[in-house]
Amino acid sequence: MNNKINIAIDGPAAAGKSTISKRVAERLGYVYIDTGAMYRAVTLHVLNSGREVMENLNDVDIRFSNDAHRSIYLNGADISSEIRSPEVTENVSAISSIQSVREYLVQMQRVIAADKGVVMDGRDIGTTVLPDAELKIYMKASPEIRAKRRLEEEQERGVDVDLSTLIQQIIRRDDLDMTREISPLRKADDAILLDTSHMNIEEVENNIIRMAEELLRGE
Ligand code: DC
Repeated sequence: MNNKINIAIDGPAAAGKSTISKRVAERLGYVYIDTGAMYRAVTLHVLNSGREVMENLNDVDIRFSNDAHRSIYLNGADISSEIRSPEVTENVSAISSIQSVREYLVQMQRVIAADKGVVMDGRDIGTTVLPDAELKIYMKASPEIRAKRRLEEEQERGVDVDLSTLIQQIIRRDDLDMTREISPLRKADDAILLDTSHMNIEEVENNIIRMAEELLRGE
């Protein structure tokens, strides 16, 4: 019997979703899917090709590596670093508000999650992509705290950015993601709200693992 569950993790930019989702997936032996990376991959493709979005979708092949890095490949090329560039970040909200892009990626995400055992993070996983996910988490934290975490990540990667720019970018992206017409960022009614502002990574991770294990035991 396949007694795996699907876990949907949504929330605003830089709430720590990917770090947590990756760790939860590793602990449970599940597959981690970063849907933001998929929207970023399409954005990169559109920026590079200079063609209309619709024309691009036909030749977008997105895959993730199976190892712990979860590298993302676009038409065979590893684009894991490129999709984090300021140019992609600037344009990704606009591209992800296009209906054809969302339909294309949502369908792909549902196929990946069909056999369960997936931890998927994004903005609309609990509301739209996997409305039947057994566990739904909505992570939030203040823009200042999220920007500080992002600053540390960028500094570790050797990228020079300042905190106030990051706070502005995060607020702008939250606004675009929450007010777009199709599948805006919103907490699903049956999602559990986790305010991670004053929690460390281990606390958030252990919380989610405990909830998942309860569900798996049928509690
Ligand atoms: O999680 P991220 O910052 O890498 O996501 C990049 C953008 O992609 C985000 O600003 C909105 C969009 N996105 C989306 O619309 N739906 C998702 N499920 C995931 C991301």
